Amino acid sequence: HQKYWELFYDHKGILQPTPTCEAWDQICNFQAKPDDLLIATYPKAGTTWTEEIVDLIQNKGDAEKSKRAPTHIRIPFIELIIPGMESGLEQANAMLSPRTLKTHLPIDLVPPSFLEKNCKIIYVARNPKDSMVSYYHFQRMNKGLPDPGTWEEYFESFLAGKVCWGSWYDHVKGWWEAKDQYRILYLFYEDMKKNPKHEIQKLAEFIGNNLDDEVLDKIVYHTSFDVMKLNPMANYSSVPTEFMDHSISPFMRKGTVGDWKNYFTVAQNERFDEDYKKKMANTSLTFHFQF
Ligand code: PPS
Repeated sequence: HQKYWELFYDHKGILQPTPTCEAWDQICNFQAKPDDLLIATYPKAGTTWTEEIVDLIQNKGDAEKSKRAPTHIRIPFIELIIPGMESGLEQANAMLSPRTLKTHLPIDLVPPSFLEKNCKIIYVARNPKDSMVSYYHFQRMNKGLPDPGTWEEYFESFLAGKVCWGSWYDHVKGWWEAKDQYRILYLFYEDMKKNPKHEIQKLAEFIGNNLDDEVLDKIVYHTSFDVMKLNPMANYSSVPTEFMDHSISPFMRKGTVGDWKNYFTVAQNERFDEDYKKKMANTSLTFHFQF
């Protein structure tokens, strides 16, 4: 089996899990439909959590309906291409409307038709320190992604934006600057942790499903970390071990805010904060790093 990251194509300076220019053309030319709903995130921001919430909102809190298939089958990941398997694009093209789709692409690489058709887009951002820790463990367990190296090496790669899907900083800022121009609901992982019901309500309103209190409470329950961790249709346990080895690090790892404190040394934290200040000086976007 050739590892699919060995086929990664360096697209405009951003490592992407797509093999050829031709595949990129197909992705760029993807024809979104006006009723598509796109969930866009930088990796490890709470994508799977948001996907589960959205699916449950669409199913009015019926957890059995949301267990019809694993997350990545219910919600195609548009830019994912694994040789020998159905691509995200093929899955999306075969799907009936209304479709919910996932992407990790930065806004300037997202297929333009999503923006031209004014599709609803949910963007979720997570503070970069926890994103980095989560991504590091994900690259250890996900055999489709490059080996992250040591934590010290990974720390430098992340700051330099030399990880798949590129710079966290450019990603969160790019979508933030676009949010008022398009139909983008911009959410934060930390807010979802602090007040899940409130954020789920916001999502439901945005999607256009007004749900009563009882249904909202049900969705809060079914999308809590502990319940999702045990749900085989939401915890990626159905993915073969050759792609994801949960014995190295489970996909549903900790699901907390502030785990970075267990990884960052004092010196790394100082270096991070200084670099962060520079890279985030030109935006009104701010993050919570702990509760
Ligand atoms: S991916 O691979 O990019 O789609 O990963 P993504 O789903 O964005 O991020 C995975 C992290 O989200 C955590 N997670 C949750 N946190 C809180 N509540 C719920 N329900 C939940 N579901 C997933 C998951 O544990 C990963 O974070 P870490 O910090 O590694 O635990």
